[in-house]
Amino acid sequence: MTGDGSDAPGHGRFISFEGIDGSGKSTQARLLHEHLTARGEDALLTREPGGSPGAEEIRALVLQGEPDRWSAETEILLFTAARRDHMERRVLPALDAGRTVICDRFADSTRAYQGSSRGDLRAMVDQLHTLMIGREPDLTILIDIDPEVGLGRAKARRTAEERFEDFGLDLQRAMRQVFLDLAAAEPERFRVIDGARPEAEVAAEVARVVEAGR
Ligand code: TMP
Repeated sequence: MTGDGSDAPGHGRFISFEGIDGSGKSTQARLLHEHLTARGEDALLTREPGGSPGAEEIRALVLQGEPDRWSAETEILLFTAARRDHMERRVLPALDAGRTVICDRFADSTRAYQGSSRGDLRAMVDQLHTLMIGREPDLTILIDIDPEVGLGRAKARRTAEERFEDFGLDLQRAMRQVFLDLAAAEPERFRVIDGARPEAEVAAEVARVVEAGR
């Protein structure tokens, strides 16, 4: 990966999962990984922020503490730094080796959460992405859920990583709309899946979508 994002892409398939907090996307990413592995496919399951030791350290910085701990601008830098490390050390080597990479959140989360939660910083997010990452998933699965249901599920987990959940329901509503708008703007990359159904039903649809896109 170079600064201008001009490297030739690897041969593996890059699949990301996106959605608001409590959408069930992490469970669905794990179930897809189990499904592909059971079929003998060599797939890497990873997540953002995190996925590499350095990026996991940044994860603790950005997800713990008070909502006003960082400005949106500082967060763009931190999430992009974590992503760059994750790309260099895990994602690109796996894709280059021909593996399928399943990533629980990727750059669309930065476009949504940092790009529009506290003012319109989308241009800044996009510029830094072009400069430092320069790569999109081949397929992005958006697990769509009612924000009240999502926030209820997310808060019920009671982890230390609740900084974004503590921004409240209005933020989750806004983020849902941004994700749906991103999906509408790039229909060839996104598939929107209704997450308000039993886990197994959602998983079966995810598997169908992934098989169909081969
Ligand atoms: P998770 O609970 O799905 O692991 O996501 C952690 C939180 O991080 C979630 O509230 C969304 C937020 N986030 C961003 O704000 N920007 C990003 O670029 C990423 C990857 C996550």
